[in-house]
Amino acid sequence: TLLIGFMMLAAYLCGSISSAVLVSKLFRLPDPRLHGSGNPGATNVLRLGGKLPAVLVLVFDVLKGTVPVWGSYFLQIEPLYLGLIAICACLGHIFPLFFGFKGGKAVATAFGTMMPIGLDLAGLLIASWILLVALTGYSSLAAIVTVGLAPLFTWFIKPLYTLPVLMLSILIILRHRENVVRLWRGKESKVWDKSKRIR
Ligand code: G3P
Repeated sequence: TLLIGFMMLAAYLCGSISSAVLVSKLFRLPDPRLHGSGNPGATNVLRLGGKLPAVLVLVFDVLKGTVPVWGSYFLQIEPLYLGLIAICACLGHIFPLFFGFKGGKAVATAFGTMMPIGLDLAGLLIASWILLVALTGYSSLAAIVTVGLAPLFTWFIKPLYTLPVLMLSILIILRHRENVVRLWRGKESKVWDKSKRIR
């Protein structure tokens, strides 16, 4: 239990590193917390600064989910606790200790925490997200539907992990309330839309 507590804390601290803010500073881009959708994540960095910084943010945000969960897996921690550690990484991203507790939506980080479950699951999630972005243009909608499908995919692939994945999905969907309102009102921006003002 001490080990689990330590890994939960480590995961929260990893998640708390807001790569969107750091990469934007490095590239001298507008602060993603104050511009575009106001969300410090890869989608908004894409809006504000283009592909390279967005890909860097995406990769780093995925890794900060993968590393603590994978580490915990090798320490032989059980699935339900791996789920709690995954939640902690996402909570770090959503409420970052180092960035005034104002973080993002944890789509990339949640994906990173699910990757160790299996490359088949990871592949399905990526395919679903890409297909939905291609069809609709909305990163948020693609994320909401994909995390909604994630527990179902997991049920077929590794049933033991269904509950932890379901907990992650609920957290991510709750975090997209603003996006749901924007989508409903037709105000959500598409990934290929270059307009920087959303709110
Ligand atoms: O990955 C976050 C995405 O689902 C929504 O981002 O900036 O459009 O609110 P944003």
